[in-house]
Amino acid sequence: MVIARPILWECRRLSILDQTLLPGQVSYIHLDSLGAVWEAIKKLRVRGAPAIGICAAFGVIVGIEEEDAPDTEAAMAAIREGVEYLSTSRPTAVNLFWALARMRTVAEAAYAEGLTLEAFEARLEAEAQAIHDEELASCLAIGAYGEALIQDGDGVLTHCNAGGLATIDYGTALAPMVKAHEAGKRIAVYADETRPLLQGARLTAWELMQRGIDVTLICDNMAAQVMREGKIQLVIVGADRIAANGDAANKIGTYGVALIAKAHGVPFYVAAPSSTFDLELASGEAIPIEQRGAEEVTHGFGKATAPDGVKVYNPAFDVTPAELIAGIITERGILRPPYAQSIREQLKG
Ligand code: MRU
Repeated sequence: MVIARPILWECRRLSILDQTLLPGQVSYIHLDSLGAVWEAIKKLRVRGAPAIGICAAFGVIVGIEEEDAPDTEAAMAAIREGVEYLSTSRPTAVNLFWALARMRTVAEAAYAEGLTLEAFEARLEAEAQAIHDEELASCLAIGAYGEALIQDGDGVLTHCNAGGLATIDYGTALAPMVKAHEAGKRIAVYADETRPLLQGARLTAWELMQRGIDVTLICDNMAAQVMREGKIQLVIVGADRIAANGDAANKIGTYGVALIAKAHGVPFYVAAPSSTFDLELASGEAIPIEQRGAEEVTHGFGKATAPDGVKVYNPAFDVTPAELIAGIITERGILRPPYAQSIREQLKG
């Protein structure tokens, strides 16, 4: 079963499912300018590390269309500008920079070859489509490897949304759960609501219900109690950037879940495709953490929940140290500690 796809590329037009409106409204919007693509990423209309990368890749082509480039020179200039601009939208998910770099590399090579404008644009479209297709294939492989970790009757806790809405179809963290369900295993998923933007409540719960998977929504501060009650046999979360030593950035609150899992002897897994690894960073300390506006905390979904003028700190991500991670489920298999070695070995080439 395919849930609503977060990104559509049809007849050279980019549309996204506006995730800020979920679960109340399933509504697609066209992104017909670079500014609209930037805004959609910034405002989390499209979100989740792989989905941001895919959207940006197609967004680069939107930039050429918008420019109505008369020749490859103008198209190349639009691409260079578009890549720079879109890379300022959000800082933490490395998939954004990875996808933009791929688009720029392909464009520079095609430009150097002296292709016609039509052939040049076709090359770029093929690259964006390849990024999309590879991410989809990665999700399926992550699901196949991760499913083996889940036993019949298990309770699985997840944080934020790393499902089809954040990627393409199966998702990363949710893919093993979907595969386990499809294999007939009876599983109970616990979804943290994920303050302040409620990706767990609005998106993960919605997505799993659409798939007919048993899901129970809990507030973030309930995870410890639920684990103490023995309801959770493993945790699986996604990631926005994984450093060379295995430290993994994911939605704020993930680190706390990992600590709670360790305290209760519950294995904590991260699921992510190769595009989420940043081997240039030796450790998670160097991962840039996005800071978001105070109103997300004080006025969640329009209602004032804090006094006017209160000071707010709103980091959107945190970093879980590698030593808390039992395994990293990738499309190439499950990486185990020591990660500096397993990451280097499995992700080379
Ligand atoms: O701020 P968001 O909603 O983009 O954060 C998303 C997450 O933290 C996901 O867990 C992560 O990107 C993995 S998506 C497969």
